[in-house]
Amino acid sequence: ADFIAPLFVVHGSGIREEIKTMPGQYRLSVDELVKECEGLYSVGVLSVMLFGIPEHKDHTGSEAYSHNGIVQQGIRALKAALPDLIVIADICMCEYTDHGHCGILHDHYTVDNDATLPYLCRQAVSFAEAGADIVAPSDMMDGRIAAMRQALDEAGYEQLPIMSYAAKFSSAFYGPFRDAADSAPSFGDRRSYQMDPANIREAMREIEGDIAEGADIVMVKPALPYLDVIRWARDRYDLPLAAYQVSGEYAMIQAAGLNGWIDRERIMMESLLSIKRAGADLILTYFAREAAELLRR
Ligand code: PBG
Repeated sequence: ADFIAPLFVVHGSGIREEIKTMPGQYRLSVDELVKECEGLYSVGVLSVMLFGIPEHKDHTGSEAYSHNGIVQQGIRALKAALPDLIVIADICMCEYTDHGHCGILHDHYTVDNDATLPYLCRQAVSFAEAGADIVAPSDMMDGRIAAMRQALDEAGYEQLPIMSYAAKFSSAFYGPFRDAADSAPSFGDRRSYQMDPANIREAMREIEGDIAEGADIVMVKPALPYLDVIRWARDRYDLPLAAYQVSGEYAMIQAAGLNGWIDRERIMMESLLSIKRAGADLILTYFAREAAELLRR
């Protein structure tokens, strides 16, 4: 029940396309997404996190906040088919912008933090209107939690929780995700808005800021290389804490496992157990379904 399964939604129907760098994970059209979630729910995974792969990308990521955006369609279909499934919607611009950055560009080279906030707010309200149970901003712009809380409240969604990617590090472990979502930045990197992997005190300040702004759940990401950060956060803050075992963590275990170099199942369970031991309440993991099945057996 503590697992959250991340899923990638694409336009079309009957699509279940394996992601090359994430064996065992798929880009799913809405009909396949519903089937996948029925399977997850039946083994006890009660929550999913949706990422969208838009039909077309542009400078301001307009599909992110469009009524017929792919995530909005996915949310509506899931809430109709599985009303008790907790549907969490990832909020960010990087999957939707043609330049692949998580915000709006100020000139051709700089992400404009404050100009991005209204776009994130529109995305949050649009996901709320579609029926999302939780919104989860992963963009890492400063001030976004306060802005989003206010926008949601004003739109009548005072009860909708925000799960903040609070301590999200600028990590090479996101590589396979960027293949999956086709969201690698077309220039530069994300170091101006994601966290310095060397700096744990800065990560604590980010979490504290997000709590003060109104976050309901905070997240540390990646997970296994940052277990100390999870432990510090657990010891200091009392909000529910999530940890994200990201695409690169998954890909490494899958690659070595599928080559027969490691005992894949034991390493999968040991890594999840370690994340739990470090203090995570909730774990976002691409292993959610398999680990839940194993735990049941
Ligand atoms: C969007 C986002 C990313 C991930 C989750 N949300 C990619 C990034 O920041 O580049 C990564 C998840 C994963 O690697 O599994 N900003």
